[in-house]
Amino acid sequence: MEPAALQLPSWAQVSEKRRAHIARVTALLDRWAAEMSLTSGEAQAWHDAGRLHDALRDAPEAELRQMVRGTAFADSPAGVLHGPAAAARLEREGETRTGVLLAVRWHTVGNAAWDQTGRALFMADFLEPGRGFLRHDRGFLSSLLPRDFDGVFRQVVRMRLEWTLREGKPLFPESIVLWNSVSGA
Ligand SMILES: [Fe+2]
Repeated sequence: MEPAALQLPSWAQVSEKRRAHIARVTALLDRWAAEMSLTSGEAQAWHDAGRLHDALRDAPEAELRQMVRGTAFADSPAGVLHGPAAAARLEREGETRTGVLLAVRWHTVGNAAWDQTGRALFMADFLEPGRGFLRHDRGFLSSLLPRDFDGVFRQVVRMRLEWTLREGKPLFPESIVLWNSVSGA
């Protein structure tokens, strides 16, 4: 979790606090990848998804809206624009790994079409140790993940949906489809 080792793109717009979050998410993905003995290509995809997912998290809303114009996110709430905006920018810069692009684009909402990279990023974003809530439960899930990737993913999807409902926030259709795809129903 060395902040100096974290290479953000030149176009990133992140506060110091955000940069620390990105570093923790990326470190967690690196740790899981090592514990799960992923291939170097898979491990690199996980690392890059973590490193890049919030690269535009602190960019102005107007700028983000401009970047997602003409896409499915054109009318989305402000809080979900940074993922698709970063994915669009990455594509323009030549990123071709579908798993990385899907992971970054949908990391706030969730998407049932995710491969392991998208699923791992979704979990790392939620389970990273800097968040203050449910420390014990999240730490447990994080340590369990290399042995039970699918089980922990299901649990994280459920916890995030529960939080959204408790806060009285609307659910995205893609989040519901994701839950139905892992709920075993
Ligand atoms: Fe994040």
